[in-house]
Amino acid sequence: MRRSHILGVGHCVPEHVVTNQDLTRLMDTSDEWIQQRTGIRERRYSDGCTGASDMGAVAAKEALTRAGLDASAIQCIVFATLSPDVDMPASAFLLQEKLGMSGIPAFDVRNQCSGFVYSLAVADQFVKTGAYDYVLVVGSEVHSTGLDLSTRGRDVAVIFGDGAAAAVVGPSPDPDRGILSTHLHAEGKYAEKLWVEAPGSRLRPRLTEEMITGPDGRVFPHMEGRYVFRHAVVRLAEVIREALDANGVSAADLDLLIPHQANLRINQMVAGELGLRDEQVVNNIDRYGNTTAASIPLALYEALETGRLQPGMLVCLAAFGAGFTWGSALLRW
Ligand code: COA
Repeated sequence: MRRSHILGVGHCVPEHVVTNQDLTRLMDTSDEWIQQRTGIRERRYSDGCTGASDMGAVAAKEALTRAGLDASAIQCIVFATLSPDVDMPASAFLLQEKLGMSGIPAFDVRNQCSGFVYSLAVADQFVKTGAYDYVLVVGSEVHSTGLDLSTRGRDVAVIFGDGAAAAVVGPSPDPDRGILSTHLHAEGKYAEKLWVEAPGSRLRPRLTEEMITGPDGRVFPHMEGRYVFRHAVVRLAEVIREALDANGVSAADLDLLIPHQANLRINQMVAGELGLRDEQVVNNIDRYGNTTAASIPLALYEALETGRLQPGMLVCLAAFGAGFTWGSALLRW
């Protein structure tokens, strides 16, 4: 079987920077609290008329350019998002139209913070088996229009930001380089630990005024923060080890870990658990917050742009998120 690789990466973040100080004007919080607990200094918010597919399209075009490919080369689109432009159809179709890729298969992956790793695993299978040569994987999120930006929602609202990034996956030009393995997991019994309950098909009516303005704020994300934090640290370390073991390498062999950006403290604890040094771990949460499905490709993009990621390096991507879901991918870059 041939090996697949990420051939080009692109990104798109809104221009509007929202600092922790800006948030103090909307809710009872402080720059000190946010930085101390999460490592976040600022995040980006879209203008409110931008959907996940709009930013995804910009990121995808850049990824195509970096891969040296024309849009016509792409044979399948996998779009990871928890904040689709509309409830139906999937954002993948809106993106397909914006990119002029009519006729090729396209679908959304609704796997929250693990969405990119799941989508990469899907693309890897398609390319490895020869089903498709080039698959476009996009992670894009517009959180800012769905957050409770009042003191009631502060524990969740301060964490999230908007952003997008995309990767073109295709046959590796070098059989020794590319995606070595992917590892996916999920545990649905924890779905309610981090979720947005409404609107939903099991509610009649699906949406009421009370769901928005009532004390429960059921249309906004709710999270048992400490519970999620503890699981994230354990599962991330576990799934990174799984990827290393599957390839007969150790944490010391890793050149770069590019973890999901949910909380800097989570990533520091995972690094400590695995005995990784700071220079082995890519973090950019300070500038973007948690951009969910976009966070790993966004960090990957920056690692490439800054020259931190070089050909031949051993790289691990690892994610944990709502569901719960978690996963990893090991690559020889
Ligand atoms: N500003 C100021 N105070 C805040 C606050 C904010 N934005 N959000 C919560 N608080 C307060 C709480 O009300 C609480 O006050 P109390 O002690 O008077 O009741 C106190 O801070 C501690 O709240 P708690 O929720 O226990 O804080 P925490 O230490 O668990 O940190 C998170 C909160 C969200 C930063 C942390 O739990 C976390 O990062 N969890 C995982 C998040 C994650 O990974 N999510 C995505 C998965 S992909």
